[in-house]
Amino acid sequence: MQRALFSVAELRQAIDQLPRTHLAVLPTPLEEAARLSEALGGPPIFFKRDDLTGLGFGGNKTRHLEFILGEALRQGADTIVTGASVQSNFCRQTAAACAKLGLRCVLYLNGEEPDAPQGNLLLDHLAGADVHLVQVRQLPDLIALCEEAAAAERQAGRKPIVVDLWHGIASLGSVSYVDAALELSEQLADLGLMRASIYLSSATATQGGLELAARALGLDWQVVGISPIRTDLAPADVVAGLANEAARRLGLDWRIDAADIENQEDYIGPGYAQPTTEAREALELVASTEGIFLDPVYTAKAMAGLIDHVRAGKLDPSRPVVFLHTGGTPALFAFNHWYAPAQ
Ligand SMILES: Cc1ncc(COP(=O)(O)O)c(C=O)c1O
Repeated sequence: MQRALFSVAELRQAIDQLPRTHLAVLPTPLEEAARLSEALGGPPIFFKRDDLTGLGFGGNKTRHLEFILGEALRQGADTIVTGASVQSNFCRQTAAACAKLGLRCVLYLNGEEPDAPQGNLLLDHLAGADVHLVQVRQLPDLIALCEEAAAAERQAGRKPIVVDLWHGIASLGSVSYVDAALELSEQLADLGLMRASIYLSSATATQGGLELAARALGLDWQVVGISPIRTDLAPADVVAGLANEAARRLGLDWRIDAADIENQEDYIGPGYAQPTTEAREALELVASTEGIFLDPVYTAKAMAGLIDHVRAGKLDPSRPVVFLHTGGTPALFAFNHWYAPAQ
């Protein structure tokens, strides 16, 4: 275990200095998943239910947006421009948050126009976002399109802010997960649990925030990020970069090296948002033992990683596991072809 570099009060005070707009229902529950642990013959497993953050079907991005949109409002923005995949949960929660705050929302979504919108795309439309479907080689390439759109918004007299999920303002998402880690550590302490392995789907800000909080507070947590996506960027570099940028925003004299981040790319399968047998099994196992629905793109792949680690005997059976459920469940409805009868 490492030495605490900062106290809980110092972290809370640093977080409270930053602009924030309240969007999420907090704290989210921490629930024991006894039937799942029994089915796996593994360590005690708990779910941190960040799929229940409330706004627009919930998810980790609602926490991120409290700080990202808090900062955007402080800068006087009236328009948010962002981009990700066609079934992006971030974009759906951004559309919902913008609707609630009366901001214009412009989305660049990578993917094909479906015959009829489903899942998150349907919700983007319902929330009134200005949706553009485009095709790029990989998701970070969307940012150039967002910058062009922001220039046009400026021409039209509006005050846009571009949210690039891989850099810059996205580090405020990590700040929100420093806050979430304080919440989780209190919930674990109430159960007398002082050590844990934390599994989550992340390749960017969420893991960055957990790493920062766990290390700054000297918590006995092993954070294991499972990446949902392969890009030209190494996930450990992105996670470390966002964690370090979040520390800077919080005024903390702290840095992490990418070499100290554990982020695995072994469970992506053929590619981002492409189903894997293991993810489908994980989704079905969790639904049928706990009545909790994972999503096909992120959390089911992270759970497939956890299940594989339990089965391979990689986990200490006495060390509790917290699975951070980051949400994403609306995408399930766009993946109903998983259940289409074989032709
Ligand atoms: C449901 C869900 N889980 C996990 C993630 C990964 O989060 P991040 O890489 O921002 O930490 C996302 C990102 O869109 C998501 O929608």
